Amino acid sequence: MSTMSTQTVSPVPAPTADWLDPVAMLEDPHPTYERLRALGPVVWAPAINRYLAVSHSANSVVEADSQTYSANVTGAAALMARTMGARPLLRKDDPEHANERRPINSSMRPKNIREVWVAMFERNAETYLDHLIERGPEHADLNTDYAAPLAAQNLADMLGLTGASPQQMQRWSQAFIDGISNLSNDSRVWERADAAQAEVDALLDQLIPYYAQHPNTSMISAWVNGGLPEASIRANIKLTISGGMNEPQHMVTNMVWALDRHPAQHSEVLTNAALWPTVFEETVRWLSPIGMLPRETTRPTVLEGTEIPAGASVGGLLACANRDPNVFERPNDFDIHRPKRPHLAFGAGSHLCAGQWAARISIGEIAVPRLYQRLPEVRLDERRSEQWFGWVFRGLSRMPVTW
Ligand code: HEM
Repeated sequence: MSTMSTQTVSPVPAPTADWLDPVAMLEDPHPTYERLRALGPVVWAPAINRYLAVSHSANSVVEADSQTYSANVTGAAALMARTMGARPLLRKDDPEHANERRPINSSMRPKNIREVWVAMFERNAETYLDHLIERGPEHADLNTDYAAPLAAQNLADMLGLTGASPQQMQRWSQAFIDGISNLSNDSRVWERADAAQAEVDALLDQLIPYYAQHPNTSMISAWVNGGLPEASIRANIKLTISGGMNEPQHMVTNMVWALDRHPAQHSEVLTNAALWPTVFEETVRWLSPIGMLPRETTRPTVLEGTEIPAGASVGGLLACANRDPNVFERPNDFDIHRPKRPHLAFGAGSHLCAGQWAARISIGEIAVPRLYQRLPEVRLDERRSEQWFGWVFRGLSRMPVTW
């Protein structure tokens, strides 16, 4: 579907944000998003060599129209193939992508999650709450002592990556993330990524034949028994290790951070547990862990009245779209009572996050509510500083808490 036919006015060239500074955005991207919105729904940003989809509606078009906005982005796909041994499903378009996505879809539905994984999520939450409490109200860090190991263990369990510790999962994930962004071809980054690949592959040498003989509802088993070439199975598992951990981890800290700053809503959810899913949904909109996703145009096109040439890099600014005032009234406010509107924190279209229900349930229904059950007084520790970082991927790398 091209947007060209729906235009009634002549398309215009994209306005240029020559002031955009990707390094300044690491600290706080929201002032940049405000300025971009004032320029238009689609903006050219020379510093990152990209057309940016700024508005909610522009992002929705980009996500829905994979024939024009391909996920097989030239540089990014090559780096992923180099890091993971083959190009994973995230960098493929349909129908190739759909063949690799289909096998895991039933494992990732709420029904399977509730039947199979909820017990593991609950057990893991209790284990790492014990650990957080042991660290004590003077030293505990909600990110490193709870959110990070919990998200890693939950992901290892969903994948069926038996034998992998949370520490290994975190190290592999970081090595893969560094590999897929290694534009400068730094040999030390490749050494770490290759070592992580070798360790994961050694584990898979045992697990792939095992799950072929003993299928279960884990993600690895689903891929192994889904008729995919082995290189694709291995690449998709590595993709999930790199992409299925940081975002749920950030959602634990983001939810607590948001509630900490909004005492009335904080009290409300502590007296009405039915509100937890809404708190998750409003937090993932307001503090979206993924700020931008990459696409590449396969032909010249017009997006929201703006010309984009063929072969152009396009960035879908999800975190910016999630504060679009045309969709969300008072978008910069955290408000669990706002009217329900579809946010884009999990993307949309064929690449819509495979782990969205796992994240909602493991974090929004279990990890954060249980934290407040065990530690009703938990709050940010103002004596020690917090640290936010990033805009393409954004979260709290340090979050001291006390109780
Ligand atoms: C709050 C937590 C999470 C957020 C905000 C999030 C966000 C996203 C987004 C925005 C995409 C689309 C990327 C694109 O189109 O380029 C995506 C894809 C994906 N996510 Fe998540 N994610 C989360 C948790 C998870 C978890 C827990 C898992 C694994 C269990 C997971 C596995 C995946 C996979 C496999 C894809 C690729 C889907 C495809 O290409 O078809 N995610 N995620």
